[in-house]
Amino acid sequence: MPQIFPKYMNVVARLSILSGPFLFAGAGVSLAAFFRADYTTGARTVVEQPVPFSHKHHVAELGIGCQYCHTSVDKSATAGLPPTRTCINCHQQMWTSAELLKPVRDSFEKNEPIVWNKVHNTPNYVYFNHSIHVKKGVGCYSCHGRIDEMNLVYQSKTLLMEWCLDCHRTPENHLRPLDEVFNIAWSAKDEINEDTGKPYDQKTLGRKLKEIHMVRESSVTTNCSFCHR
Ligand code: HEC
Ligand code: HEC
Ligand code: HEC
Ligand code: HEC
Ligand code: HEC
Repeated sequence: MPQIFPKYMNVVARLSILSGPFLFAGAGVSLAAFFRADYTTGARTVVEQPVPFSHKHHVAELGIGCQYCHTSVDKSATAGLPPTRTCINCHQQMWTSAELLKPVRDSFEKNEPIVWNKVHNTPNYVYFNHSIHVKKGVGCYSCHGRIDEMNLVYQSKTLLMEWCLDCHRTPENHLRPLDEVFNIAWSAKDEINEDTGKPYDQKTLGRKLKEIHMVRESSVTTNCSFCHR
């Protein structure tokens, strides 16, 4: 996998060893800020692709659901990317001669997959699994942001350990009904609380769903071996 911390990591590591005993709290804080900055985590950086595939166009404007293309997201660890066949289903009839789609036609004719550049990546010593998150009511939005408004996809969260832990400690801030997992624009206010007749706030609804979906306690889900197996 591509290094999260590129070359300058070495320099930082060496500097912090050298300055060890003299390291002031202030320097610690600014190093911490450095590691959390978007340019070190890759957050918010648009990744170029062989075909400028737009989620905004296909999801928000054409209304195609995530599972049409990411077929294994609720069944396996990985969400999966669509085979060229899926694009050809529609692009056989439309935009057939567009230059933008040449890599799609070439891939189909040569029977070679389009090589998409990865946007999200966790190190291989971390265990991550999509299906359990989907089955327990964590929406795509909570981890991928407004995919339906993106032309090219960017990583909207840091994917750092503390980000994972934050939700594992307080999942009620994120849980939603299972049939809203794919609905990027959903908000707890869309649900009416039968006890009060008023729209829900996220915390109240989240606490209920935590029980209904049998989400385990944070003492279990923040255990090191939960993610480092
Ligand atoms: C018509 C097919 C299609 C649909 C529908 C679709 N996607 Fe995608 N998705 C792709 C393709 C192709 C890629 C790879 C290119 C890229 O990263 O933009 C991708 C990439 C992604 C990535 C980044 C993958 C990485 O490399 O880390 C995420 C996250 C994602 N999609 C989420 C979603 C979500 C959430 C939905 C539903 C709201 C959705 N997609 C709907 C085709 C689709
Ligand atoms: C369900 C039908 C459908 C599928 C599946 C589909 N597309 Fe499209 N795509 C369209 C339509 C319709 C347009 C034209 C949108 C317009 O002009 O308003 C389009 C436009 C495009 C464009 C032109 C740029 C843009 O966003 O307007 C590209 C590039 C593209 N699609 C790539 C892909 C790729 C790559 C896949 C497979 C991962 C794919 N499409 C799957 C229907 C589809
Ligand atoms: C709990 C956070 C979380 C949720 C919820 C989530 N994802 Fe992901 N997604 C990730 C992470 C982390 C990765 C990178 C995994 C890796 O390192 O390979 C990823 C990667 C992807 C990829 C790249 C291909 C792959 O399988 O690795 C796609 C596509 C994707 N997600 C789509 C979706 C869709 C669609 C949904 C909603 C059904 C969704 N994700 C929900 C965190 C999440
Ligand atoms: C927005 C909330 C949220 C985020 C962010 C999140 N998780 Fe989770 N995760 C959950 C919930 C809820 C569960 C279900 C716990 C249960 O099964 O009781 C879960 C379960 C898991 C499991 C259990 C899988 C299994 O098969 O037992 C693993 C592993 C995991 N998460 C890893 C991660 C990692 C790694 C990240 C960060 C890259 C992450 N999660 C980010 C909410 C989240
Ligand atoms: C919810 C999932 C999750 C849990 C639980 C978890 N980690 Fe992690 N851990 C990650 C992810 C994701 C990364 C990679 C991203 C990063 O470096 O922040 C990581 C990275 C690390 C690293 C490398 C950090 C670095 O700076 O290179 C160490 C060491 C580590 N974890 C130790 C632990 C220990 C010890 C525990 C238990 C107290 C723990 N982790 C619990 C998800 C988790």
